[in-house]
Amino acid sequence: MQCSVTFLLCFFTTCVLTTLSSPNFLGVSDEQLIPHYEGFLSKYEKKYTNHSEEYWKRFHNFKQSLVKSSYLNKKHYNDTSAVYGVTKFSDLSPEEFKRIYLEDLRSPFLFKRVKQTTPIELIRQLKVPQKVDWREKGIISDVKNQKSCGACWAFSSVETVESMVAKETGVAVPDLSVQEVIDCSSDNDGCGGGDTCSALNWLQIGARLVSDDAYPLKDKSEVCQVLSEEGQPMIQVSNYTCLGLVSREDEMVQLLADVGPLTVTVDATTWNNYIGGIIQFHCSDFNNHAVQIVGYDLTGPVPLYIVRNSWGSDFGIDGYLHVKIGDNLCGIAKRVSTVHVKA
Ligand SMILES: *[C@@H]1O[C@H](CO)[C@@H](O)[C@H](O)[C@H]1NC(C)=O
Ligand SMILES: *[C@@H]1O[C@H](CO)[C@@H](O)[C@H](O)[C@H]1NC(C)=O
Ligand SMILES: *[C@@H]1O[C@H](CO)[C@@H](O)[C@H](O)[C@H]1NC(C)=O
Repeated sequence: MQCSVTFLLCFFTTCVLTTLSSPNFLGVSDEQLIPHYEGFLSKYEKKYTNHSEEYWKRFHNFKQSLVKSSYLNKKHYNDTSAVYGVTKFSDLSPEEFKRIYLEDLRSPFLFKRVKQTTPIELIRQLKVPQKVDWREKGIISDVKNQKSCGACWAFSSVETVESMVAKETGVAVPDLSVQEVIDCSSDNDGCGGGDTCSALNWLQIGARLVSDDAYPLKDKSEVCQVLSEEGQPMIQVSNYTCLGLVSREDEMVQLLADVGPLTVTVDATTWNNYIGGIIQFHCSDFNNHAVQIVGYDLTGPVPLYIVRNSWGSDFGIDGYLHVKIGDNLCGIAKRVSTVHVKA
């Protein structure tokens, strides 16, 4: 019987081996952890009064995040493995993280379990470049930060519209108004939640997307403002798709090569602890978040999607994550959208 297991315990970029003998015991004393906690507080400019009730409550969450990360690091086989550890979310309890950053994506289908994979040979046989990264083509805007507004569905939809404007018109990638979609897209609930396909549908049936300068981002839902057409670039979506590609991830790779970036939905329940590597385990497919895929890389031993998140550039790999292709990991193939814009 195994009573204790050795795990990787990671603080920022340094990891050490530790022994966890129960789900709550880290093998590291509070005294040893405090300097790491203080380092975390100062790095992310968290201002909890020293030794106040809040300070200790957050310390408890920090400790629990480390325990969870260490368990997630259990499947650390080699340098392709995902690494979990201290992130800017480490002082949140799992419930707080879920409430603030994950959301109800308004589609019962996204909560159905689908356990299917795409044979890796199918992906290896595709006649596509071994690596596509649309960032290198200058059509991906800077990483956005949704902060406490649960409108990932609007961020990830607008990101792909921005990319396709740059791709199809050759202009520099614009910053378009996410706030307009948050406030005005009917059938959705702003920072309270929404659906990528219904946002894209709203854009296709006649909405005109203005620039972020004209309709800037707030951290909350507001009343929809109607802007006059004068002096405004007004972007129109001509068509979009909303595809279920579970067990057909070769098609996702083909679309990334032929069409451009994709808007998808995922399960991000463990992403708050992600600090790097390729996610290959520890994800369900109960989708609760939406992101953009900006490319893929088939050159290494583990084929991966390059995934852009909207939690700021101080999350993950400069705002991005790597997710293995082929296992519908994190439900990434369940709801896949391409976008075309009117040039
Ligand atoms: C908080 O208290 C610790 C000692 O318990 C001390 O090392 C640290 O500098 C204090 N931090 C601040 C911001 O006062
Ligand atoms: C690393 O581990 C993964 C399993 O997570 C495996 O698929 C891959 O082939 C391994 N890579 C190397 C270089 O050993
Ligand atoms: C969507 O629009 C693009 C460009 O306008 C066009 O090439 C493509 O065929 C259209 N797709 C559908 C399904 O209408």
